[in-house]
Amino acid sequence: MLIEVKNLSKRFGNIQAVDNINFSVKKGEIFGFLGPNGAGKTTTVRMLTGIIKPDNGQINILGQDMTKDPIKVKEKIGVVPETSNAYLDITGWENMMLTAGLYDIPKKHASKRSKELLEDFDIYNRRNHKVKGYSKGMKQRLILCMALIHNPLILFLDEPTSGLDVQSSIKIIEKLKRIKKEGKTIFLTTHNMWEAEKLCDRIAIINKGKIAAIDEPRFLKELTEEMKKVEITFEEKPNFENIKKLIRAPITKTGDKSFIVESEDITEIIWKISKFTMENNLRITSLNTLTPSLEEVFIKIIEGR
Ligand SMILES: Nc1ncnc2c1ncn2[C@@H]1O[C@H](COP(=O)(O)OP(=O)(O)O)[C@@H](O)[C@H]1O
Ligand SMILES: [Mg+2]
Repeated sequence: MLIEVKNLSKRFGNIQAVDNINFSVKKGEIFGFLGPNGAGKTTTVRMLTGIIKPDNGQINILGQDMTKDPIKVKEKIGVVPETSNAYLDITGWENMMLTAGLYDIPKKHASKRSKELLEDFDIYNRRNHKVKGYSKGMKQRLILCMALIHNPLILFLDEPTSGLDVQSSIKIIEKLKRIKKEGKTIFLTTHNMWEAEKLCDRIAIINKGKIAAIDEPRFLKELTEEMKKVEITFEEKPNFENIKKLIRAPITKTGDKSFIVESEDITEIIWKISKFTMENNLRITSLNTLTPSLEEVFIKIIEGR
């Protein structure tokens, strides 16, 4: 385990921002921290990266105790914070050099590495422009380059795509997948279910400072097995009242000729519908079983606790 967190808590006044959480992150995985605004994601990242001290609990990163020895760990981690840490009045290149200086990277090596990173993130041709002229997406990519300059083993990102348009977000997501392929471990927070599902190997769902569930996206979905749904479309308009009476399960009309039915026993539903179809001389044009979206799972888990 590269990151191990035990009984971690942090309180601000009367707000319990992080409430006794436990989790661990394996080498090479993208671990997602998914939760709504105010859930405690940023507070957790700030404790993990040594910016604030926890009230309680242990944080072990790369075998080191983060609460006692943060300096040793900081050399081996990269951080993309919630609010930009790039200086706006200097160029992208100067920001890279400044960051390299913080890590005592020799000039020559810093230049080589910066060139590679900026090229890789498609901002090299804008390196000599002031950052205040960058688009949000470019700025975010620069911050990622800055976080990677010392070739860290673990990358922490706090809502890296928040406020970006879809295309810029996708660009970042693709880059993160590549960074993972290079063998790095990624800890990322997001409030975006879609992003978590696309990107993460495992997801912790956090709400009101507590972790509600931790698992692979596909298993989180299975937590709500009872939510199985099937959508059926007929060739002609059927008698919905008769269908309702027959299947005795809630149905939602999705069109003139189609409806969704939710049931624990989908097989039985399909069986009954087939019978109904034959008896009424109807034809089915499509039948789809729908697995719940991560969003539905998320709401269900959070409401359930
Ligand atoms: N420095 C602080 N002082 C007081 N309250 C804070 C501070 N930082 C965070 N909080 C509160 O702690 C809770 C969790 O915040 P945060 O970790 O930023 O959540 P998230 O990143 O998931 O949106 C919120 O209620 C927030 O208002
Ligand atoms: Mg936050």
